[in-house]
Amino acid sequence: MRASADPIQTLHEEPAEAEVVSHRLMLRAGLVRKLAGGVYSYLPMAIRSLRKIENIIREEMNRAGGQEVLLPALQPSDLWEKTGRWQAYGPELFRLADRHERPFALGPTHEEVITDLVSQLVRSYRQLPFLPYQIQTKFRDERRPRFGILRGREFIMKDAYSFSASEDDARQIYVRMQETYARIFLRLGLEHRMVEADSGLIGGNLSHEFMVMADSGEDTVISCEKCSWASNIEKAPDARVCPHCGASVSSRTAIEVGHVFYLGHKYSAKMETTFLDASGNEIPFFMGCYGIGVSRIMAAAIEQAHDGQGIVWPVPIAPYRTAILPLGPGMAEKPEVLALLASIESLWPDEVYFDDREVRPGIKFQDADLRGFPFQVILGERHVEKGNGEIKIRRTGERVVAPLTEVPSLLSRLAQAPLPEA
Ligand SMILES: Nc1ncnc2c1ncn2[C@@H]1O[C@H](COP(=O)(O)OP(=O)(O)OP(=O)(O)O)[C@@H](O)[C@H]1O
Ligand SMILES: [Mg+2]
Ligand SMILES: [Zn+2]
Repeated sequence: MRASADPIQTLHEEPAEAEVVSHRLMLRAGLVRKLAGGVYSYLPMAIRSLRKIENIIREEMNRAGGQEVLLPALQPSDLWEKTGRWQAYGPELFRLADRHERPFALGPTHEEVITDLVSQLVRSYRQLPFLPYQIQTKFRDERRPRFGILRGREFIMKDAYSFSASEDDARQIYVRMQETYARIFLRLGLEHRMVEADSGLIGGNLSHEFMVMADSGEDTVISCEKCSWASNIEKAPDARVCPHCGASVSSRTAIEVGHVFYLGHKYSAKMETTFLDASGNEIPFFMGCYGIGVSRIMAAAIEQAHDGQGIVWPVPIAPYRTAILPLGPGMAEKPEVLALLASIESLWPDEVYFDDREVRPGIKFQDADLRGFPFQVILGERHVEKGNGEIKIRRTGERVVAPLTEVPSLLSRLAQAPLPEA
């Protein structure tokens, strides 16, 4: 991408509407714009990052035996009447009527729709287990939408649902999903923790949340200072010591980015959806459900990794892996610079943001820091004349000068460096 052809500009003044750093930086870096409370448009750089997040999630869900589907956002009320959630969900459910006055909701979650669908598709234990998932826009009329896309009223979620023939099989999938989530957050480059959780409106009796540590988090995690026990404070409000080993606990704020529930028969019994087990009995499916806040992750990553200059994207989810900053008049058209651009683009196709604007170097540095590209290839006249270029690593501020011909292989090595301890 050439910056001269990019209509989206950074903002240098502080946006007044933003209460947390990720929201402020997302507005300033040109990632999102607000349409209404809790409703945002995603601009091109945000979409690039979102697609990377989604693809990591897809790869890991497929590896775990998941199959992608896409369910309707528009859901008739009768399914929700069957489970009692048409009432229980309350004002958080966006409700509307069609031209015949038939009531519908915009899906905040899809247990009803998927259970109804699977009951039509699966008749026998031989067809189980089944692990459909989707990546889709969800609607929740949150009481307090805030912090930009961290708590939106329209947001993107990955939701998966498991259907198993026995409780044992269902618990195996639950454990597999816990491991899958750990891999996903590791690959996304986020410092996270799995904690015991309350199961809330979705229900069931076993549930864990995945938390990204961040000062602005709305949740509080208490964790044992000795063993691996950790819990959402909602689940263990009075814990002064660890229930497993008796050691003292400490607390930290965090952002919930994922949630897994063991549901058992909760939905399948209410919706009377059964299959034939091995002995020929009609029994309800054993279910689980597994959510990840795809759009929330993008903001949580920024909460976790930023500095006074701007965003510090983890390499796996950065909108572009590297910027190239030719400095000085005419530099962007120099043959050496164009040759380097071509060779970095053949290493990383469609991953280079080429700042070919005729603006002061200070503006290019400021914008590249604000947008948080993991690497900046800085091409000043003096270096280029000697056949050199400079790489700046955004996370550490470290700079390396290298011959232009070696810049691509150096970038490739730097990008493979292990994730830093957060
Ligand atoms: N309003 C929202 N905006 C953005 N992401 C959300 C929102 N609500 C939930 N999510 C994301 O979707 C995931 C799965 O949804 P789930 O129903 O488990 O959330 P939740 O328990 O209601 O979350 P919270 O406690 O933050 O309201 C959550 O872990 C979170 O990452
Ligand atoms: Mg909620
Ligand atoms: Zn302990």
